[in-house]
Order: sequence, then structure tokens, then C-alpha cells
Amino acid sequence: MAANPRDIGRGDGHGDSSGAPDVFEIRAMTLEDIDDVTRIERESYEFPWTPGIFRDCLRAGYLCTVGTSDGKICGYGLMSFGAGECHILNLCVAAEARRHGNASALLDNLINEARKIGIQTAFLEVRESNQGAQVLYEDFGFCETGVRPGYYPHRGGKEDALIFSMNII
Ligand SMILES: CC(C)(COP(=O)(O)OP(=O)(O)OC[C@H]1O[C@@H](n2cnc3c(N)ncnc32)[C@H](O)[C@@H]1OP(=O)(O)O)[C@@H](O)C(=O)NCCC(=O)NCCS
Repeated sequence: MAANPRDIGRGDGHGDSSGAPDVFEIRAMTLEDIDDVTRIERESYEFPWTPGIFRDCLRAGYLCTVGTSDGKICGYGLMSFGAGECHILNLCVAAEARRHGNASALLDNLINEARKIGIQTAFLEVRESNQGAQVLYEDFGFCETGVRPGYYPHRGGKEDALIFSMNII
């Protein structure tokens, strides 16, 4: 399924010097966005996805979205789906745009799109050490439902992933 460009128009008060709030908009990711997306990815993760992984997600028809503020990409969310389940593959917001509800808006958009096509369950993995993201997912309604031992690369070894799931019917 191709993602439909979709604006959710949130004025959240982190505006420019005129005092006008920037509007965070969500639209489908395109191949042209991958340079900007991978720049944020490298700044955000110690073990970032390569541009090729983002290209593969687009080619596979996964739901790939970017969030923009003032036309500039400041976050993205990617989700695969099938057999009644969706899998949040990546959710990331540039450091300067965090704590304004932008990741929550990206996640909300992905889950709503999944609901529209009859998906019943959402799941994702998160690093055991990534407590900020865990709070975000718990606030959203996800519950921890399992562990994948040694799922992530980690300096000098591996790190467990916590599996979070949510019924989205
Ligand atoms: C995790 C991440 C996506 C959150 O993005 P964000 O836009 O700041 O998230 P939101 O503003 O929507 O946060 C919503 C709520 O989640 C919780 N939360 C988010 N980040 C948090 C943090 N670092 N510490 C504690 N709580 C956090 C808070 O309850 C927050 O509400 P509040 O700001 O009113 O307190 C962002 O920090 C990021 O991109 N990190 C690097 C990539 C990453 O770890 N992605 C997740 C992979 S599983």
C-alpha cells in the first residue's frame, strides 16, 4: 500500500521569531527525502540504518512517512503490515524537534492508517536502555509483551529488545 500524503496540521507552539507556531505536517516519504532522513538517522542512533534500508522499505511498499516543520523534514516513521499485524520499524525525531509531541503525531498517523486497512495488532521493538521511547510507547497505550535477547548491536556486544504490543481495533 502506498502512503497517502496526509496533513495533520498541529500548531504546537515551537514557532519562529514572529511567534507564529510552526505546523507539523505528515506526508509520504519519497526517495528524494532519503538524504535528509539518513542525516537525522545518523545523528539519532549509534547504529543507524543505511540509505539502502530506507530505499528497501519504500520499494517494499511499507508505510513510510516524514514529518515536516516549515517544510523541513524533522522526523519520520516507518511501518510494515500484513496478516492483521503492523510492525513499527522506525520512529525518529531530530534532536531539535523533540518533546513537542512530534513522535506521538507520527505514531498516531501510522496506527490510524493501519486501522483503516483492518489491522488489529501493532507491535514494535525498543532497546532495553531506551527509556524515553518506552515512556512514549506506554503513554500511547502499548504494553511490554516480551523480550528478544541480544536483538540489537551494542558497543562490545548485544542488547536485548523489549517487544511492545497494542490492540488497535
Ligand atoms: C524517542 C523519540 C522518537 C521521541 O520523540 P519526541 O518527538 O520527543 O516524542 P514526543 O514529544 O511525542 O513525546 C511524547 C511523550 O513521550 C515521553 N518521552 C518522549 N521522549 C522522552 C524522553 N527522552 N524521556 C522521557 N520521556 C520521554 C514523554 O512522556 C513525552 O511527553 P512530554 O514531552 O509531554 O513529557 C525521540 O527522542 C527520538 O527520535 N530518539 C532517537 C530515536 C529513537 O530512540 N527512536 C525510538 C526507537 S524505538
